[in-house]
Amino acid sequence: MKCVDDYRLRFGKRELVPIIVGGMGVDISSAELALEVARLGGIGHISDAMVPTVSDRRFKTKFTRDKFQQFKYNFENPDKSAVQFNLGQLAEATQLHVGRTMEAKRGDGMIFINCMEKLTMNAAKDTLRVRLAAGLDAGVDGITLSAGLHLNSFALMEDHPRFRDAKLGIIVSSLRALQLFIRKNARLNRAPDFIVVEGPLAGGHLGFGLADWQQYDLATITAEIIGWLRIEQLDIPVIAAGGIFTGSDASAYLASGVAAVQVATRFTVTSECGLPAKVRQEYFKAGEDDVEVNGISPTGYPMRMLKSSPAIGDGIRPNCEAYGYLLDGSGNCAYITAYNRELAIQPDPKRIKVLDKTCLCTQMHDFNCWTCGHYVYRLKDTSHLLADGSYQSLSAEHVFRDYQFSVDGKVALPPII
Ligand SMILES: Cc1cc2nc3c(=O)[nH]c(=O)nc-3n(C[C@H](O)[C@H](O)[C@H](O)COP(=O)(O)O)c2cc1C
Repeated sequence: MKCVDDYRLRFGKRELVPIIVGGMGVDISSAELALEVARLGGIGHISDAMVPTVSDRRFKTKFTRDKFQQFKYNFENPDKSAVQFNLGQLAEATQLHVGRTMEAKRGDGMIFINCMEKLTMNAAKDTLRVRLAAGLDAGVDGITLSAGLHLNSFALMEDHPRFRDAKLGIIVSSLRALQLFIRKNARLNRAPDFIVVEGPLAGGHLGFGLADWQQYDLATITAEIIGWLRIEQLDIPVIAAGGIFTGSDASAYLASGVAAVQVATRFTVTSECGLPAKVRQEYFKAGEDDVEVNGISPTGYPMRMLKSSPAIGDGIRPNCEAYGYLLDGSGNCAYITAYNRELAIQPDPKRIKVLDKTCLCTQMHDFNCWTCGHYVYRLKDTSHLLADGSYQSLSAEHVFRDYQFSVDGKVALPPII
Protein backbone atom coordinates (compact mmCIF):
# COMPACT_ATOMS: atom_id res chain seq x y z
CA MET A 1 0.00 0.00 0.00
CA LYS A 2 1.36 3.40 -1.01
CA CYS A 3 1.84 6.30 1.36
CA VAL A 4 2.33 10.00 0.68
CA ASP A 5 6.10 9.59 0.82
CA ASP A 6 5.95 7.46 -2.34
CA TYR A 7 5.07 10.62 -4.27
CA ARG A 8 6.87 13.89 -4.93
CA LEU A 9 5.65 17.31 -5.98
CA ARG A 10 7.83 18.49 -8.87
CA PHE A 11 8.55 22.10 -9.73
CA GLY A 12 11.00 21.76 -12.63
CA LYS A 13 13.97 19.87 -11.21
CA ARG A 14 12.96 20.54 -7.62
CA GLU A 15 11.25 17.75 -5.69
CA LEU A 16 9.21 18.26 -2.54
CA VAL A 17 7.25 16.11 -0.15
CA PRO A 18 3.74 16.66 -1.54
CA ILE A 19 2.34 18.14 1.66
CA ILE A 20 1.46 21.81 1.80
CA VAL A 21 0.28 23.41 5.00
CA GLY A 22 -2.20 26.05 3.88
CA GLY A 23 -2.20 29.70 4.82
CA MET A 24 -4.13 30.45 7.99
CA GLY A 25 -4.62 34.12 8.73
CA VAL A 26 -4.19 36.04 10.96
CA ASP A 27 -0.83 34.50 11.88
CA ILE A 28 -2.27 31.09 12.71
CA SER A 29 0.02 29.65 10.05
CA SER A 30 2.91 31.29 11.85
CA ALA A 31 6.47 31.63 10.64
CA GLU A 32 7.45 28.92 13.13
CA LEU A 33 4.98 26.48 11.59
CA ALA A 34 5.96 27.34 8.02
CA LEU A 35 9.66 26.97 8.85
CA GLU A 36 9.09 23.55 10.35
CA VAL A 37 7.17 22.36 7.29
CA ALA A 38 9.91 23.66 4.99
CA ARG A 39 12.55 21.95 7.12
CA LEU A 40 10.67 18.67 6.66
CA GLY A 41 10.66 19.08 2.89
CA GLY A 42 7.11 20.27 2.27
CA ILE A 43 5.65 23.71 1.60
CA GLY A 44 4.67 25.93 4.51
CA HIS A 45 2.66 29.13 4.29
CA ILE A 46 2.75 32.35 6.15
CA SER A 47 -0.07 34.80 5.53
CA ASP A 48 0.00 38.48 4.74
CA ALA A 49 -3.39 39.06 6.39
CA MET A 50 -3.15 42.10 8.70
CA VAL A 51 0.60 41.95 8.28
CA PRO A 52 1.30 45.27 10.08
CA THR A 53 -0.28 43.85 13.24
CA VAL A 54 1.63 40.61 12.80
CA SER A 55 4.85 42.58 12.47
CA ASP A 56 3.96 44.55 15.60
CA ARG A 57 3.56 41.32 17.54
CA ARG A 58 6.62 39.65 16.06
CA PHE A 59 9.08 42.52 15.85
CA LYS A 60 7.66 45.10 18.28
CA THR A 61 7.05 47.59 15.45
CA LYS A 62 4.32 50.19 16.00
CA PHE A 63 2.50 50.21 12.68
CA THR A 64 -0.97 49.70 14.17
CA ARG A 65 -0.50 52.27 16.93
CA ASP A 66 0.79 54.83 14.41
CA LYS A 67 -2.17 54.24 12.10
CA PHE A 68 -4.60 54.65 14.96
CA GLN A 69 -2.89 57.87 16.09
CA GLN A 70 -3.11 59.25 12.59
CA PHE A 71 -6.83 58.54 12.22
CA LYS A 72 -8.21 58.60 15.74
CA TYR A 73 -9.97 61.89 14.96
CA ASN A 74 -12.27 59.77 12.77
CA PHE A 75 -13.16 57.18 15.44
CA GLU A 76 -16.74 58.41 15.97
CA ASN A 77 -17.36 58.83 12.26
CA PRO A 78 -19.27 55.97 10.57
CA ASP A 79 -17.71 57.04 7.27
CA LYS A 80 -14.25 55.41 7.16
CA SER A 81 -13.23 56.59 3.69
CA ALA A 82 -10.47 58.79 5.14
CA VAL A 83 -8.76 55.83 6.81
CA GLN A 84 -6.06 54.82 4.35
CA PHE A 85 -3.05 52.55 4.72
CA ASN A 86 0.40 54.03 4.41
CA LEU A 87 1.77 52.02 1.49
CA GLY A 88 5.40 52.46 2.56
CA GLN A 89 4.65 51.02 5.98
CA LEU A 90 2.64 48.20 4.45
CA ALA A 91 5.64 47.27 2.31
CA GLU A 92 7.95 47.53 5.31
CA ALA A 93 5.75 45.27 7.44
CA THR A 94 5.46 42.68 4.66
CA GLN A 95 9.19 42.71 4.03
CA LEU A 96 9.93 42.25 7.70
CA HIS A 97 7.51 39.34 8.12
CA VAL A 98 8.50 37.58 4.92
CA GLY A 99 12.18 38.53 4.93
CA ARG A 100 12.92 37.38 8.47
CA THR A 101 11.06 34.14 7.81
CA MET A 102 13.00 33.44 4.64
CA GLU A 103 16.32 34.18 6.37
CA ALA A 104 15.50 31.54 8.97
CA LYS A 105 14.52 28.88 6.45
CA ARG A 106 16.39 25.56 6.59
CA GLY A 107 15.90 22.33 4.70
CA ASP A 108 14.66 21.40 1.24
CA GLY A 109 11.11 22.70 1.43
CA MET A 110 9.61 26.02 0.43
CA ILE A 111 7.74 28.86 2.06
CA PHE A 112 4.87 30.61 0.30
CA ILE A 113 2.75 33.53 1.34
CA ASN A 114 -1.04 33.38 1.29
CA CYS A 115 -2.49 36.55 -0.15
CA MET A 116 -6.25 37.16 0.10
CA GLU A 117 -7.89 39.45 -2.44
CA LYS A 118 -10.81 40.11 -0.12
CA LEU A 119 -8.55 42.17 2.12
CA THR A 120 -9.49 45.27 0.18
CA MET A 121 -7.91 47.70 2.69
CA ASN A 122 -9.78 50.78 1.45
CA ALA A 123 -7.74 50.79 -1.79
CA ALA A 124 -7.82 47.26 -3.16
CA LYS A 125 -5.54 47.55 -6.15
CA ASP A 126 -2.82 49.74 -4.63
CA THR A 127 -2.54 47.78 -1.40
CA LEU A 128 -2.55 44.41 -3.18
CA ARG A 129 0.18 45.56 -5.57
CA VAL A 130 2.34 46.59 -2.60
CA ARG A 131 1.69 43.36 -0.69
CA LEU A 132 2.60 41.19 -3.69
CA ALA A 133 5.70 43.18 -4.63
CA ALA A 134 6.97 43.35 -1.05
CA GLY A 135 6.59 39.58 -0.64
CA LEU A 136 8.57 38.99 -3.83
CA ASP A 137 11.19 41.58 -2.85
CA ALA A 138 11.65 39.82 0.47
CA GLY A 139 12.48 36.57 -1.31
CA VAL A 140 9.39 34.46 -0.68
CA ASP A 141 9.51 31.19 -2.64
CA GLY A 142 5.97 31.57 -3.91
CA ILE A 143 2.59 33.25 -3.54
CA THR A 144 -0.78 31.55 -3.18
CA LEU A 145 -3.55 33.86 -4.30
CA SER A 146 -6.73 33.22 -2.33
CA ALA A 147 -10.16 34.50 -1.26
CA GLY A 148 -11.10 36.06 -4.57
CA LEU A 149 -10.88 35.56 -8.32
CA HIS A 150 -7.61 37.54 -8.57
CA LEU A 151 -8.28 38.41 -12.18
CA ASN A 152 -5.75 41.27 -12.11
CA SER A 153 -3.21 40.01 -9.59
CA PHE A 154 -0.76 38.58 -12.12
CA ALA A 155 -0.89 41.87 -14.04
CA LEU A 156 -0.05 43.70 -10.80
CA MET A 157 3.17 41.67 -10.63
CA GLU A 158 4.07 41.55 -14.31
CA ASP A 159 6.81 44.19 -14.06
CA HIS A 160 8.42 42.62 -11.02
CA PRO A 161 11.81 41.00 -11.76
CA ARG A 162 10.68 37.84 -9.96
CA PHE A 163 7.36 37.52 -11.82
CA ARG A 164 8.60 34.57 -13.87
CA ASP A 165 10.78 32.85 -11.30
CA ALA A 166 8.68 32.86 -8.10
CA LYS A 167 6.11 30.08 -7.84
CA LEU A 168 2.73 31.75 -8.28
CA GLY A 169 -0.54 29.90 -7.90
CA ILE A 170 -4.21 30.36 -7.14
CA ILE A 171 -6.87 28.73 -4.99
CA VAL A 172 -10.12 27.97 -6.81
CA SER A 173 -13.26 26.12 -5.84
CA SER A 174 -14.64 25.58 -9.33
CA LEU A 175 -13.52 24.98 -12.88
CA ARG A 176 -15.30 28.18 -13.87
CA ALA A 177 -13.18 30.30 -11.51
CA LEU A 178 -10.04 28.69 -12.93
CA GLN A 179 -11.15 29.27 -16.52
CA LEU A 180 -11.78 32.95 -15.80
CA PHE A 181 -8.33 33.29 -14.25
CA ILE A 182 -6.54 31.53 -17.12
CA ARG A 183 -8.41 33.50 -19.79
CA LYS A 184 -7.85 36.82 -18.10
CA ASN A 185 -4.12 36.16 -17.87
CA ALA A 186 -3.60 34.67 -21.33
CA ARG A 187 -1.96 37.87 -22.63
CA LEU A 188 0.78 37.64 -19.97
CA ASN A 189 2.04 34.34 -21.34
CA ARG A 190 2.57 33.13 -17.79
CA ALA A 191 0.49 30.20 -16.54
CA PRO A 192 0.14 29.61 -12.80
CA ASP A 193 2.74 27.23 -11.36
CA PHE A 194 0.13 25.43 -9.29
CA ILE A 195 -3.61 25.35 -8.74
CA VAL A 196 -5.06 24.60 -5.33
CA VAL A 197 -8.58 23.18 -5.58
CA GLU A 198 -10.29 23.86 -2.29
CA GLY A 199 -13.46 21.92 -1.55
CA PRO A 200 -16.36 22.68 0.80
CA LEU A 201 -14.89 20.96 3.88
CA ALA A 202 -11.99 23.41 4.26
CA GLY A 203 -11.43 25.92 7.04
CA GLY A 204 -11.43 29.68 6.60
CA HIS A 205 -13.64 31.25 3.93
CA LEU A 206 -15.39 28.96 1.47
CA GLY A 207 -15.69 29.55 -2.26
CA PHE A 208 -19.26 28.20 -2.29
CA GLY A 209 -22.68 29.59 -1.40
CA LEU A 210 -23.97 29.49 2.16
CA ALA A 211 -27.03 27.56 0.98
CA ASP A 212 -25.40 25.14 -1.43
CA TRP A 213 -21.89 24.29 -0.21
CA GLN A 214 -23.08 20.82 0.83
CA GLN A 215 -23.88 19.94 -2.77
CA TYR A 216 -20.22 20.03 -3.80
CA ASP A 217 -17.37 17.66 -3.21
CA LEU A 218 -13.65 18.02 -3.58
CA ALA A 219 -13.00 14.81 -5.53
CA THR A 220 -15.51 15.75 -8.25
CA ILE A 221 -14.23 19.33 -8.67
CA THR A 222 -10.62 18.14 -8.70
CA ALA A 223 -11.30 15.50 -11.36
CA GLU A 224 -13.15 18.05 -13.48
CA ILE A 225 -10.24 20.49 -13.29
CA ILE A 226 -7.61 17.84 -14.03
CA GLY A 227 -9.70 16.70 -17.03
CA TRP A 228 -10.01 20.25 -18.38
CA LEU A 229 -6.29 20.98 -17.97
CA ARG A 230 -5.53 17.82 -19.92
CA ILE A 231 -7.82 18.86 -22.76
CA GLU A 232 -6.21 22.32 -22.82
CA GLN A 233 -2.76 20.69 -22.68
CA LEU A 234 -1.86 22.73 -19.64
CA ASP A 235 0.66 20.90 -17.48
CA ILE A 236 0.03 22.56 -14.13
CA PRO A 237 0.22 20.71 -10.79
CA VAL A 238 -3.19 20.46 -9.12
CA ILE A 239 -3.31 20.44 -5.34
CA ALA A 240 -6.35 19.17 -3.46
CA ALA A 241 -7.45 20.87 -0.23
CA GLY A 242 -10.25 20.58 2.29
CA GLY A 243 -11.08 17.64 4.53
CA ILE A 244 -7.95 15.58 3.86
CA PHE A 245 -7.49 14.29 7.38
CA THR A 246 -5.24 11.22 7.22
CA GLY A 247 -2.20 10.13 5.26
CA SER A 248 -4.44 7.60 3.51
CA ASP A 249 -6.88 10.34 2.45
CA ALA A 250 -3.88 12.19 1.07
CA SER A 251 -2.38 9.23 -0.79
CA ALA A 252 -5.77 8.42 -2.32
CA TYR A 253 -5.82 11.93 -3.81
CA LEU A 254 -2.22 11.55 -5.00
CA ALA A 255 -3.11 8.24 -6.65
CA SER A 256 -6.00 9.97 -8.44
CA GLY A 257 -3.60 12.38 -10.16
CA VAL A 258 -3.20 15.40 -7.90
CA ALA A 259 0.37 16.59 -7.41
CA ALA A 260 0.09 17.42 -3.70
CA VAL A 261 -2.41 18.00 -0.92
CA GLN A 262 -2.96 21.17 1.07
CA VAL A 263 -3.95 20.61 4.68
CA ALA A 264 -4.51 22.88 7.66
CA THR A 265 -6.91 21.77 10.40
CA ARG A 266 -4.63 19.05 11.75
CA PHE A 267 -1.94 21.68 12.27
CA THR A 268 -4.20 24.00 14.31
CA VAL A 269 -3.40 21.89 17.39
CA THR A 270 0.36 21.96 16.99
CA SER A 271 2.45 24.05 19.33
CA GLU A 272 4.08 25.84 16.36
CA CYS A 273 0.80 27.27 15.09
CA GLY A 274 -0.18 30.77 16.16
CA LEU A 275 -3.34 29.87 18.08
CA PRO A 276 -3.01 30.36 21.84
CA ALA A 277 -2.82 27.09 23.81
CA LYS A 278 -6.28 27.64 25.31
CA VAL A 279 -7.85 28.01 21.88
CA ARG A 280 -6.07 24.90 20.63
CA GLN A 281 -7.85 23.00 23.39
CA GLU A 282 -11.21 24.27 22.05
CA TYR A 283 -10.32 22.76 18.69
CA PHE A 284 -9.35 19.46 20.31
CA LYS A 285 -12.56 19.27 22.31
CA ALA A 286 -14.96 20.16 19.50
CA GLY A 287 -17.72 17.70 18.68
CA GLU A 288 -19.38 17.32 15.29
CA ASP A 289 -22.37 19.42 16.38
CA ASP A 290 -20.15 22.24 17.57
CA VAL A 291 -19.28 23.37 14.04
CA GLU A 292 -21.25 25.65 11.72
CA VAL A 293 -20.88 27.34 8.36
CA ASN A 294 -22.24 30.85 8.74
CA GLY A 295 -22.44 34.16 6.93
CA ILE A 296 -21.00 36.46 9.57
CA SER A 297 -17.80 37.29 7.72
CA PRO A 298 -18.09 40.79 6.24
CA THR A 299 -16.31 39.50 3.14
CA GLY A 300 -19.56 37.92 1.95
CA TYR A 301 -17.98 34.45 1.80
CA PRO A 302 -19.35 31.73 4.08
CA MET A 303 -16.97 30.73 6.82
CA ARG A 304 -16.77 27.56 8.94
CA MET A 305 -16.15 28.01 12.64
CA LEU A 306 -16.79 26.61 16.08
CA LYS A 307 -20.21 27.73 17.32
CA SER A 308 -18.55 28.71 20.60
CA SER A 309 -16.31 31.31 18.88
CA PRO A 310 -16.42 34.49 20.98
CA ALA A 311 -16.63 36.40 17.68
CA ILE A 312 -20.20 35.21 17.08
CA GLY A 313 -22.71 37.81 18.25
CA ASP A 314 -20.06 40.07 19.73
CA GLY A 315 -20.94 43.68 19.00
CA ILE A 316 -17.51 45.16 19.48
CA ARG A 317 -17.06 48.68 18.21
CA PRO A 318 -15.37 48.70 14.78
CA ASN A 319 -11.75 49.77 15.01
CA CYS A 320 -11.02 50.57 11.38
CA GLU A 321 -8.76 53.42 12.44
CA ALA A 322 -6.30 50.80 13.72
CA TYR A 323 -7.24 47.93 11.38
CA GLY A 324 -9.65 48.51 8.47
CA TYR A 325 -8.47 45.54 6.38
CA LEU A 326 -11.93 44.82 4.98
CA LEU A 327 -12.90 48.36 4.02
CA ASP A 328 -13.97 48.57 0.41
CA GLY A 329 -12.79 51.49 -1.72
CA SER A 330 -15.43 53.79 -0.23
CA GLY A 331 -14.68 53.16 3.43
CA ASN A 332 -17.50 50.65 3.99
CA CYS A 333 -17.55 47.23 5.60
CA ALA A 334 -20.65 45.08 6.14
CA TYR A 335 -19.86 44.95 9.87
CA ILE A 336 -19.96 48.74 10.23
CA THR A 337 -23.42 48.78 8.66
CA ALA A 338 -24.64 45.99 10.96
CA TYR A 339 -23.08 47.60 14.02
CA ASN A 340 -24.61 51.02 13.34
CA ARG A 341 -28.01 49.45 12.75
CA GLU A 342 -27.85 47.71 16.14
CA LEU A 343 -26.47 50.80 17.86
CA ALA A 344 -29.56 52.69 16.77
CA ILE A 345 -31.86 49.98 18.21
CA GLN A 346 -30.04 48.80 21.36
CA PRO A 347 -30.06 51.34 24.18
CA ASP A 348 -26.87 50.29 26.01
CA PRO A 349 -23.93 50.48 23.61
CA LYS A 350 -21.66 48.60 26.06
CA ARG A 351 -23.67 45.40 25.68
CA ILE A 352 -24.54 45.58 22.02
CA LYS A 353 -25.08 42.29 20.15
CA VAL A 354 -24.52 41.97 16.43
CA LEU A 355 -25.64 38.59 15.19
CA ASP A 356 -25.44 38.77 11.41
CA LYS A 357 -21.87 40.05 10.97
CA THR A 358 -18.63 40.07 12.92
CA CYS A 359 -15.77 42.53 13.16
CA LEU A 360 -13.40 40.09 11.50
CA CYS A 361 -10.28 42.26 11.85
CA THR A 362 -10.55 42.60 15.62
CA GLN A 363 -11.78 39.06 16.16
CA MET A 364 -9.07 37.41 14.04
CA HIS A 365 -6.45 39.64 15.62
CA ASP A 366 -7.60 38.54 19.09
CA PHE A 367 -7.91 34.84 18.07
CA ASN A 368 -11.65 34.95 18.83
CA CYS A 369 -12.92 33.66 15.51
CA TRP A 370 -12.28 29.92 15.70
CA THR A 371 -12.40 28.99 12.06
CA CYS A 372 -11.74 25.33 11.32
CA GLY A 373 -12.14 22.60 8.75
CA HIS A 374 -15.15 20.27 8.83
CA TYR A 375 -13.18 17.47 10.48
CA VAL A 376 -12.09 19.54 13.46
CA TYR A 377 -14.14 17.15 15.60
CA ARG A 378 -11.70 14.34 14.77
CA LEU A 379 -8.72 16.15 16.29
CA LYS A 380 -9.41 14.55 19.65
CA ASP A 381 -8.52 11.21 18.06
CA THR A 382 -5.07 12.50 17.12
CA SER A 383 -3.71 13.01 20.64
CA HIS A 384 -3.92 11.81 24.26
CA LEU A 385 -6.49 13.02 26.74
CA LEU A 386 -4.53 13.94 29.85
CA ALA A 387 -5.57 13.49 33.47
CA ASP A 388 -6.45 17.17 33.82
CA GLY A 389 -8.97 16.94 30.96
CA SER A 390 -6.78 18.69 28.40
CA TYR A 391 -5.25 17.16 25.27
CA GLN A 392 -1.55 16.70 24.78
CA SER A 393 -0.16 19.30 22.42
CA LEU A 394 1.28 17.98 19.15
CA SER A 395 4.39 18.99 17.28
CA ALA A 396 4.16 20.04 13.65
CA GLU A 397 6.79 17.42 12.87
CA HIS A 398 4.61 14.68 14.35
CA VAL A 399 1.56 15.71 12.28
CA PHE A 400 3.61 16.21 9.12
CA ARG A 401 5.25 12.77 9.43
CA ASP A 402 1.87 11.19 10.13
CA TYR A 403 0.55 12.58 6.85
CA GLN A 404 3.75 11.51 5.11
CA PHE A 405 3.96 7.90 6.27
CA SER A 406 0.66 6.64 7.66
CA VAL A 407 -1.46 4.05 5.83
CA ASP A 408 -4.74 2.19 6.34
CA GLY A 409 -6.62 5.29 7.50
CA LYS A 410 -4.55 5.29 10.67
CA VAL A 411 -3.52 8.33 12.68
CA ALA A 412 -0.34 7.95 14.72
CA LEU A 413 -0.60 9.14 18.30
CA PRO A 414 2.35 11.07 19.74
CA PRO A 415 4.63 9.52 22.35
CA ILE A 416 3.16 10.24 25.78
CA ILE A 417 5.12 12.93 27.59
C1 LIG B 1 -7.75 28.15 11.15
C2 LIG B 1 -7.79 28.24 9.65
C3 LIG B 1 -7.56 29.46 9.03
C4 LIG B 1 -7.53 29.54 7.63
N1 LIG B 1 -7.25 30.75 7.04
C5 LIG B 1 -7.09 30.82 5.69
C6 LIG B 1 -6.63 32.01 5.10
O1 LIG B 1 -6.35 33.01 5.77
N2 LIG B 1 -6.49 32.02 3.75
C7 LIG B 1 -6.76 30.93 2.98
O2 LIG B 1 -6.60 30.98 1.76
N3 LIG B 1 -7.18 29.78 3.54
C8 LIG B 1 -7.33 29.69 4.87
N4 LIG B 1 -7.68 28.50 5.44
C9 LIG B 1 -7.83 27.30 4.57
C10 LIG B 1 -6.55 26.43 4.58
O3 LIG B 1 -5.45 27.11 4.08
C11 LIG B 1 -6.71 25.10 3.82
O4 LIG B 1 -6.77 25.26 2.44
C12 LIG B 1 -7.90 24.24 4.24
O5 LIG B 1 -8.33 24.49 5.55
C13 LIG B 1 -7.51 22.75 4.12
O6 LIG B 1 -8.51 21.94 4.64
P1 LIG B 1 -8.37 21.21 6.07
O7 LIG B 1 -8.35 22.30 7.06
O8 LIG B 1 -9.59 20.35 6.13
O9 LIG B 1 -7.09 20.42 6.07
C14 LIG B 1 -7.76 28.39 6.85
C15 LIG B 1 -7.99 27.17 7.49
C16 LIG B 1 -8.00 27.09 8.86
C17 LIG B 1 -8.25 25.76 9.52
